[in-house]
Amino acid sequence: MRPLYKGKHFITLEEWSKEEIDKLLEVAHQLKDDFYQNRPTKYLEDKTAFLMFFEQSTRTRNSMEAGLAQLGGHANFLDTSTMQISHGESAKDTAVILSSYGHGIACRNCFWEVGNKYLRSMAEHATVPIMNLQCDLYHPMQGLADLMTIQEDKKETKNVKVSVIWAYATSHKKPISVPLTQVLLFPRYGMDVTLAHPIGYELPDWVIEKAKKNALENGGSFKITHKMEEAYRDADVVIPKNWGSWVNNPSTEVLDDVLESYKGWKCTEEMIALAAKDVSYMHALPADRGNEVEDSVIDGKHSIVYQEAENRLHTAKAVMAMTMGNK
Ligand code: CP
Repeated sequence: MRPLYKGKHFITLEEWSKEEIDKLLEVAHQLKDDFYQNRPTKYLEDKTAFLMFFEQSTRTRNSMEAGLAQLGGHANFLDTSTMQISHGESAKDTAVILSSYGHGIACRNCFWEVGNKYLRSMAEHATVPIMNLQCDLYHPMQGLADLMTIQEDKKETKNVKVSVIWAYATSHKKPISVPLTQVLLFPRYGMDVTLAHPIGYELPDWVIEKAKKNALENGGSFKITHKMEEAYRDADVVIPKNWGSWVNNPSTEVLDDVLESYKGWKCTEEMIALAAKDVSYMHALPADRGNEVEDSVIDGKHSIVYQEAENRLHTAKAVMAMTMGNK
């Protein structure tokens, strides 16, 4: 397999054309089939990627580590609290040095108004591809896996009604990167996207403008509602998930009166009953069970969350295989 996008940074899907994303998905499907058939896929033999995590992770870390091993390479997990970054070493120095040791650098940094800038700073100085494992604004690895999952599930994405819905949670103040990535990406594939959230949980204005533009250019649609029921009604795919009020309130406190007033924003059987008969329930995970969603929904017949999580492996492998080539 030729690394067609060798050296290309994977920071946002907005910087990848539809043709390039389609190629990534084609490779991901092939790698999924290879994985099921136990066929060897040593496309990155002897290649090394550095995985820098400023935050916790289950899916992202393990899909990258297992994925690179399956491609014949090695992923070096780096807890940034044990790196000299914690003593102030710059993104530039870290990127230049890790570039000289391997073939790719991946990073999760979700600090509000810091994470994306940190990745951009590394990209400016790295000589290997920088892969975004989630920042304050984007989660392209998740977006790609979500798109793959919807394609598998619904076959055709054109005019599929997808609702990205805010949900109540108390586990931690989550980044806006998952819904932001979804509302920018899905309209590019002709989907009819509804974004639903209570007042106070807005996405940035520039995201809304871009989502509308992406819809207009690709035959999809995009609308916003503050009524939860409206978003569930007749939807083909529902993605109820919590995100923090970062745009209005940069405090890292999890609980506040605004959040507590929206406890009713939960994905229940009653909400699912409003949707299309064959509606699919998705969630990037981890889910705040009992708050964001009832167990009977996430464990029920409409849920495709495990397929979605599994596709993180195949899409991560596709991104690495296509961007990390021979030095
Ligand atoms: N969805 C996702 O990114 O999961 P992790 O936080 O476990 O990596």
